[in-house]
Amino acid sequence: MPEIMDGKRLAEEIKAEVRKDVGMLNERGFDVGLAVVLAGDNLASEQYFLAILRACKTVGITAYKYKFPDTVTINELLNIIHSLNADERINGILVLLPLPQRINARRVINSIAPEKDVDGLGAISVGRLAAEESTFQLFKDEYIEAVEECKFMPTLSSFIPCTPFGVIRLLEYYDIGLKGKHAVVISKSLAVGKPLSHMLLAKEATVTVCHRETKNLSAVTRQADILCTATGQQGLIKGDVIKAGVIIVDIGIKVLGDGRIVGDVDFDSIKDKASFITPVPGGVGPVTIAMLLENTVKSAKRSKFLKSPLMM
Ligand SMILES: NC(=O)c1ccc[n+]([C@@H]2O[C@H](COP(=O)([O-])OP(=O)(O)OC[C@H]3O[C@@H](n4cnc5c(N)ncnc54)[C@H](OP(=O)(O)O)[C@@H]3O)[C@@H](O)[C@H]2O)c1
Repeated sequence: MPEIMDGKRLAEEIKAEVRKDVGMLNERGFDVGLAVVLAGDNLASEQYFLAILRACKTVGITAYKYKFPDTVTINELLNIIHSLNADERINGILVLLPLPQRINARRVINSIAPEKDVDGLGAISVGRLAAEESTFQLFKDEYIEAVEECKFMPTLSSFIPCTPFGVIRLLEYYDIGLKGKHAVVISKSLAVGKPLSHMLLAKEATVTVCHRETKNLSAVTRQADILCTATGQQGLIKGDVIKAGVIIVDIGIKVLGDGRIVGDVDFDSIKDKASFITPVPGGVGPVTIAMLLENTVKSAKRSKFLKSPLMM
């Protein structure tokens, strides 16, 4: 049986650290705020929205909720983001995707100020990740050392996307080395596959990125030491397309008709071959939310530090 990578446990540990940081800022008279923008009636986004609000409450972050009907216009969304960019109470802004189809989602996401773009999906944040200007955040010890020496804090002006950042944290939590390993990522999406491939490269893995047009997908997946899949296709990964000992990170989420949530991996057929696996639910999902909270408190610390350097 593979070892189950328990995302809930890691998420609780990250949240405990966030709670401490929020408390430290509160003692100095600062509140930490996250604005969450939801437009339209997407059931999965609605559930994610509620889960974020609950998580904010547990760590003392104030959540500001902005809910719009499907008929919302792009100007309404841009206006709200412009006002949130200027709002001192708000340290992070998250716009839940997908937006209603009429809306140009990239224009909305790109309007978030990079220093408040806590899911790291705006063009500036994406560019900084690709240019390796924000990957230092992946190296926790070096990051903490640098922050203590106040070397990096002022330059922390963009964040790295929460889901792939959570994947890296989960692998590290289970002491899974990445250097020199062959990591196969199934997804080239902007939110998951592309940033994850950059992060794995920063960790010196050898990375192959696959998608719908990949020829002979199973020939590639069989080479993986670490297989990360984020397609939302139930049963895409079965025992016959992996090699023995592989580490599997299942990022996919599909809500079935009966309300059950499943990932991309057929657990029964891989259980005698894989060495580690993330469960769905309870794997990457909770860590994603914890990383969102961590990025938000980092943003708050940075902003307070920049505005009142003697306070920290
Ligand atoms: N656990 C979490 O915290 C978390 C966070 C975010 C997303 N998710 C889940 O992850 C999944 C992907 O989300 P997303 O927003 O990245 O979706 P997306 O933008 O639709 O991307 C899906 C990716 O999977 C690829 N793909 C789909 N079917 C495939 C197949 N049969 N073979 C090979 N590649 C295939 C697509 O290839 P093409 O590019 O060629 O179309 C695309 O690159 C969803 O299930 C979502 O719910 C989970």
